[in-house]
Amino acid sequence: MPIEKTFSIIKPEAVKNKISGKIISMFEDNGFTILAQKKISMTQDQARHFYAVHKDRPFYNDLVKFMTSGPVIVQVLEKENAIADNRSLMGATNPSEAAEGTIRKDYGTNVEANAVHGSDAPDTAQSEIAFFFSGLEFTG
Ligand code: CMP
Repeated sequence: MPIEKTFSIIKPEAVKNKISGKIISMFEDNGFTILAQKKISMTQDQARHFYAVHKDRPFYNDLVKFMTSGPVIVQVLEKENAIADNRSLMGATNPSEAAEGTIRKDYGTNVEANAVHGSDAPDTAQSEIAFFFSGLEFTG
């Protein structure tokens, strides 16, 4: 299987609740290499742009408000089959529907405050990484 990069966000409630270290351990325990990582506070414009695909959904404004409510940790993760494997590790979008042992089951609060975001496909992984990181920030 190909080595892939995927983009991840540890969301504001997880950072605020000081469980980012536990989530990072789950990535590493499951074979992901953290190529790049930084703590940022997303601006309204960044959050609106990042989630533009959802702009017509009823939850869009609340989602932007939530994602700008506190610092997040953005990451580039790498492993074989990283995109699909990270989606399995994260679990279902709604923590109440997520399987046992997944990040959202263990650490998510509700469908909005669901601990993590992960890219859903190779093209989105590439554009999401480029939105937050310069290639100069990657270390093997
Ligand atoms: P994420 O992977 O970050 O991508 C879009 C986000 O929208 C999703 O995770 C959820 O946290 C958020 N969201 C908020 N409300 C809903 C909803 N009703 N259905 C789906 N996603 C939602």
